[in-house]
Amino acid sequence: MAEAVENSTNNAGGASGAGSSGGRAARPEFRNINVGDILSYRMPSPAIVSILHRISGVLLFLVGLPFILYLFQQSLLSEISYENYRAIVSHWFAKLVLLALIWAYLHHLIAGLRFLFLDVHVGVDKPSARKSAAAVLIISLPLTLIIALKLFGVF
Ligand code: HEM
Repeated sequence: MAEAVENSTNNAGGASGAGSSGGRAARPEFRNINVGDILSYRMPSPAIVSILHRISGVLLFLVGLPFILYLFQQSLLSEISYENYRAIVSHWFAKLVLLALIWAYLHHLIAGLRFLFLDVHVGVDKPSARKSAAAVLIISLPLTLIIALKLFGVF
C-alpha cells in the first residue's frame, strides 16, 4: 500500500494514462506549485517587499478598518465610551494589534509609493529595484521599532 502511494506520488504531475509506459524516455515533470513551497524559495528583497505589501494591504483592510473605526467611535460617543476606549488601547494585546497595523501602514505606504514609481517605469532595472526594495525595509522597520518603543512606554 505504502509502495503504491509512493509510486503515485512520484508520478504526480508527470505523464499518466496513454503513452506513459512501454520503455520510452521519461517525460519531464511539471509539478503544481503549492503555497507551502514558498518557504523553500530563495527570495530577493523585491519579492519579500511585494508579498509583504499584499499582506499589509489585506491586514489594513480586514483588521485595520473595522478596529480603527470601532476605536474612533468609542472615543467620540460619550464620556463612558471614551473611558472604554482608553481601557482598550492601554491593554497590551490591543497595543500589539495596533503595532501590527502601524507596521502594515508604514510598509504599505512606503512600498506602495515604490510600486507607483515602478508603474511609471522609474527604477525598474534589477539593481535599482533591489535597492529600492531594501530601502522600503530599511525605512519601515526602524520606524515601526521607534513607534513600538513609544507605544510600550520606553520613552
Ligand atoms: C497609505 C497610502 C497607500 C498607498 C500609497 C497605497 C498604494 C497601493 C498600491 C500602489 C497598490 C497596488 C500594488 C500592486 O501594484 O500590486 C495597493 C494595493 C492595495 N492596497 Fe494600498 N495603498 C495605500 C493605503 C492603503 C490602505 C489604507 C489600505 C487598506 C485599508 C490599502 C489596501 C490595499 C489592498 C488590499 C491592496 C491590494 C493588495 C494586493 O492585491 O496585492 N491600501 N496599494
